[in-house]
Amino acid sequence: TTALLADRHGRVARDLRVSVTDRCNLRCRYCMPAEGLPWLAKPDMLDDDELVRLVSIFVSLGVQQVRLTGGEPLLRRSLTDLVSRIAALEPRPRIAMTTNGIGLDRLAGPLAAAGLDRVNVSLDTVDPQEFADLTRRDRLHDVEAGLKAARDAGLVPVKVNAVAMRGVNDTSVADLLAWCVERGYELRFIEQMPLDAQHGWDASTMVGGDEIRAQLEERFTITPMPEADRGSAPAERFLVDGGPATVGIIASVTAPFCGACDRTRLTADGQVRNCLFSQRETDLRGPLRDGASDEELAALITGEMWKKAKGHGIGSADFVQPLRPMSAIGG
Ligand code: GTP
Ligand code: 5AD
Ligand code: SF4
Repeated sequence: TTALLADRHGRVARDLRVSVTDRCNLRCRYCMPAEGLPWLAKPDMLDDDELVRLVSIFVSLGVQQVRLTGGEPLLRRSLTDLVSRIAALEPRPRIAMTTNGIGLDRLAGPLAAAGLDRVNVSLDTVDPQEFADLTRRDRLHDVEAGLKAARDAGLVPVKVNAVAMRGVNDTSVADLLAWCVERGYELRFIEQMPLDAQHGWDASTMVGGDEIRAQLEERFTITPMPEADRGSAPAERFLVDGGPATVGIIASVTAPFCGACDRTRLTADGQVRNCLFSQRETDLRGPLRDGASDEELAALITGEMWKKAKGHGIGSADFVQPLRPMSAIGG
């Protein structure tokens, strides 16, 4: 029983991203409109027992890392309990989380104690004005406190994710790198992808990885790390001023890494997605609530993975943005 979550292009999923809520307390411009979105109703969401049961089936199918995402995962009240239940699975998966950091100052300790191994925190700028403009909320200090608490709780390496938006924070990327290097956070810049709820993405305004790198090179010496060490990681990494600090570039659009993809996704309403950009999903919640066995649910999951497309095709003439926005997939 190997390669259970394989697809027809030879890839095997080992990394499960679980969206535990579609809600968020920020309103980042590259993600959602100012008024928010029609959130999932509670009865439509997996409860803790359902979520843990599905994660355990993914683990039995070869998943080795579970990443909790959102929306904003810290908004799920039962999160610490969920982490300890996932940490109790056999074999125990590594457990990571991608968060905006708000509330992490209080929760980093309990989450680490429950079994969380590491966190990635989204922070696009440390300029208060730019932060408020980009996220439409005045919460920079909460994020900074969250990052510090994560590091103090041993949720390391603490990674910082940044999306650069033209005309908003695209001229302060070197400031952000200096800030992260000083504090020991591993910064990665992400190219904006067409996954916003407003469908406002435009290739011509996207800040590409090459442009980021050129800007960083005005202030730092940036040297590529061996490509062999990258594996299935989305980030291409560079040493900063000879190291040990590093910076990453996740060039999802201009240099897709789909060929090495090892991801699968579970949405808060119990749909398995084989790709961020998939036009299809398989419902697990319905069968689960109708009494399906673990074997039946496992068959639905492997069936969905087998249908995974070779690549996302952003930029090709027939590319169509998926209906579900980033905030309801979990990134
Ligand atoms: P690490 O294991 O720490 O490297 O995590 P990660 O970078 O895979 O996860 P994170 O949630 O921090 O995501 C960072 C960025 O990479 C986000 O913009 C994600 O949407 C993007 N990303 C993660 N996985 C994939 C993927 O499979 N495909 C694409 N295109 N982007 C991805
Ligand atoms: N393109 C690229 N990255 C995005 N993120 C959110 N929306 C987008 C987008 N449209 C980032 C978040 C978070 C990670 C999960 O994805 O900032 O760090
Ligand atoms: Fe994997 Fe799809 Fe992302 Fe490509 S776009 S790396 S196939 S999830």
